[in-house]
Order: sequence, then C-alpha cells, then structure tokens
Amino acid sequence: LSILVVHGPNLNMLGVREPGTYGNVTLETINCLLGEKAEYLGCSLSIVQSNQEGDLVDAIQAALGQHQGILINAAAYTHTSVAIRDALSAVKIPTVEVHLSNIYQRESFRHHSYIAPVAVGQISGFGSNSYLLGLDALHHYLNQT
Ligand code: DQA
Repeated sequence: LSILVVHGPNLNMLGVREPGTYGNVTLETINCLLGEKAEYLGCSLSIVQSNQEGDLVDAIQAALGQHQGILINAAAYTHTSVAIRDALSAVKIPTVEVHLSNIYQRESFRHHSYIAPVAVGQISGFGSNSYLLGLDALHHYLNQT
C-alpha cells in the first residue's frame, strides 16, 4: 500500500509561521512522524510540498497507478482551488483532507473547502496530530475497501 502525502502552500514555513495557530512543529518533523507511523502501519509514503497550485495538480495526476491513497493539506488552496479538487476527482484515489487548525473556528472564508466533497473525510484542528490521525483513518479506510 502506497500513500501520497500532499502539503500545500506555506506549510514549508511551519515552525516559524503563526505558531499560535499552527504550533511549533516543523514540516520536517511532521514528515518524520508520518514516516514512523507509515512504517508501523506497513505502508509506504511519498511526500510532496509545493507553493504552486499547478505543481500540486501535477503531483495528484502522477499518483494515478502509483498510489492507492492521498493524504492532503491543500492549505489556502483548500478554499480556492477548483483545479486541485478536479484533479482529485479525475484520479479517483481515496483522499483524506487534513488541517492543523480547526478551520471552522476561524475566519468565514476558511469554512468552505473545495476538497471536502471529493474526500472520504476530513480531520481538522488537532495540530500536527491531524496528519497522523488522517494517515490512520486513510489506512483503515483502504484496508476495508
Ligand atoms: C490550513 C488552514 C488553511 O485555512 C490555511 O490557509 C493554511 C493551513 C491548516 O492546516 O490549518 O495554510 O490548511
């Protein structure tokens, strides 16, 4: 079982960026924790981060035939990107959406996700643990189907 992890814009700044909202954990640490969890679950991971919308679309398209699941934090593109949503619909790879912060507790423009309707489910508000819970949920889902 192979899972693609997709990190969207500004997540490379984790640790430095608004620690009150996103915590002190760096993306490198999150990726490390995901790697440990994947090893425990017995699945393999590919991880991409980009600040460019098109690169994220390319990575999702390239997952076809390579990965059985996608774990995505599309960051700000969550609230704007029809292109990323369409890429997920096109490849039809089961996807779990995650957010560090609870997007429903924040500004109203963060309450809408273009990704949510094409995802299996969403985990939001648990800081870096959202990713680990998301990986667990995705792995569970893929083993059931
Ligand atoms: C985020 C929430 C988004 O609204 C924001 O634009 C981000 C990060 C989160 O993980 O909490 O960049 O996806």
